[in-house]
Amino acid sequence: MKYLIANWKMHSPPLPAWAQAVSKASVREDDQIVLCPPFTQLAAAQMVLANTNIALGAQDCHYKDEGAFTGDIAADMLKRVGCAFVIVGHSERRQYHHEDDAMVQAKADNAIDHGLVPIICVGESLAEREAGQAEAVVRAQLEASVPNRDEPMLVAYEPVWAIGTGLTAQTADIMAMHTHMKKILAQPLPVLYGGSVKPANAAAILSLECVDGVLVGSASLQAESFSQIIQAV
Ligand code: PGA
Repeated sequence: MKYLIANWKMHSPPLPAWAQAVSKASVREDDQIVLCPPFTQLAAAQMVLANTNIALGAQDCHYKDEGAFTGDIAADMLKRVGCAFVIVGHSERRQYHHEDDAMVQAKADNAIDHGLVPIICVGESLAEREAGQAEAVVRAQLEASVPNRDEPMLVAYEPVWAIGTGLTAQTADIMAMHTHMKKILAQPLPVLYGGSVKPANAAAILSLECVDGVLVGSASLQAESFSQIIQAV
């Protein structure tokens, strides 16, 4: 079974046409497709995706149940609008919103408390990789941002230097890192890869046994390229 997750980030392609095309992309029945659109499209997406094989996810949530947090969205609100998944700790949140591991872990905890499956992102920067610190950085992120709980969670390895750059990690590097991560994790959690996944490299990445799925940004915006990635499994 593989997870195929579309992270639309701050883009909003026309949803009905996308959903219609992607839901027809032939998938093995036990693969899980997830769309994470911007918050403003979640309500519409709940209707459009009903009765399809595509589950709904959000791109972030707050770590508190409610309160005076202007501009934020609580996990419970996501649950009520039909989300089953939520991405937490994406490197763009860590970088532009200064989210640290403790906050990411609190978000993941709150997501679980409200019945969502968190997709917890980790990954090293280029400078860290070049300094030979990739494995140590990812270890520290995992240890501090993945809650020690038995509920379902997904972990995504997204090397920061591969996100939106067209640079993809070599399959040997992905294998080495995923193997490293699975050894560190206290629970046997699925580990996804993200970072410039495209139709051209999806088959090679998804065929790796240690890769339990992919988190796709730019190539998920077009129904055609995301469908090709789905078909690559
Ligand atoms: P990308 O983004 O596929 O555009 O590199 C992946 C991600 O950030 O999840």
